[in-house]
Amino acid sequence: MISLPVLLSLSLLPFVASQSSNDTTLQIAAIKAHFTQSEIVPDLLSSFDPSAILTVNFEGVGNITPGQALSQDQVGTAPTVTVTAANSSVGLSGNFTLAMVDADVVGTKNAQVTRHWLVNGDTISNDALSNSSATAITSYAGPAPAEGSGAHRYVILLYQQPSTFTSPAGYTENIGVSTFDLASYLSDSGMGSLIAGTYMTVEQGTSTVSVSATSSVITSTLSVASSTHASSSGASSASGSAASTSTSAGSTSGSNGALSNGVGMVVAGIGGLVVGLQAFA
Ligand SMILES: *[C@@H]1O[C@H](CO)[C@@H](O)[C@H](O)[C@H]1NC(C)=O
Ligand SMILES: *[C@@H]1O[C@H](CO)[C@@H](O)[C@H](O)[C@H]1NC(C)=O
Ligand SMILES: *[C@@H]1O[C@H](CO)[C@@H](O)[C@H](O)[C@H]1NC(C)=O
Ligand SMILES: *[C@@H]1O[C@H](CO)[C@@H](O)[C@H](O)[C@H]1NC(C)=O
Repeated sequence: MISLPVLLSLSLLPFVASQSSNDTTLQIAAIKAHFTQSEIVPDLLSSFDPSAILTVNFEGVGNITPGQALSQDQVGTAPTVTVTAANSSVGLSGNFTLAMVDADVVGTKNAQVTRHWLVNGDTISNDALSNSSATAITSYAGPAPAEGSGAHRYVILLYQQPSTFTSPAGYTENIGVSTFDLASYLSDSGMGSLIAGTYMTVEQGTSTVSVSATSSVITSTLSVASSTHASSSGASSASGSAASTSTSAGSTSGSNGALSNGVGMVVAGIGGLVVGLQAFA
């Protein structure tokens, strides 16, 4: 395993992936890194190891990129959600629970988070998340962060809902927006694995709070490099299979040379193509 140096920044610099990539392996690695950079891991989740890509599409916006800054108006109505398995060995059958919670600004770690959306019994058909036989515990309620409270992280998560799932006491249909303890809800209900997730940020007005310095923000890059290998700054052309590419605050590691795909070698580390989040379409 090779530890790669990383670029640190004081601002929420975007995680980067090659624009040309349409590789779910790369996208899985990217969304994992996003969750770490934005401190959703560990603020909200102790870990995040998705087996599918969650694509969230707001009318008038299109598919959001992880962490995309959106206005309250843009996210006022429920998005459509698609779920793409990481590979053909990932089955997406059965029931799923979709949740959206407000994880507040970076550095906020509260057991209680605001529940904006909670639906049990969603199903997936041709990658589309369907709610035709679902139960909305909390119907979609768009983000409404307090004026000046900073850029809140709205995290959308999809869990496998096993047949043993039981809605905990109090979680009946249409309970509306309120705070809850996500971890307790998951354990009390016997929820299954976290399958996929993404997030966006929404801010109102000018921030009057100091958001904690994001020392864990990394601009490590994952790029499909046809010829460019990250060999500067000690980052040799390390690459890893998706399973072994764990990008976390401070290091990116992978087994050298383990990953190649049809497009080219995946290079993790400094020296890859760096583009802005907005450009990661
Ligand atoms: C990405 O790949 C999938 C599966 O091969 C394909 O259905 C989809 O159209 C591709 N998307 C783009 C943007 O190329
Ligand atoms: C398929 O994806 C899952 C989740 O990312 C991963 O754990 C597994 O190793 C992958 N399997 C193959 C055969 O690539
Ligand atoms: C299903 O989605 C539609 C469109 O967003 C929404 O109007 C409806 O309330 C949803 N039903 C459930 C059970 O979530
Ligand atoms: C999915 O949920 C429905 C009720 O909404 C239930 O009848 C069905 O057995 C569940 N399927 C699985 C695989 O848990």
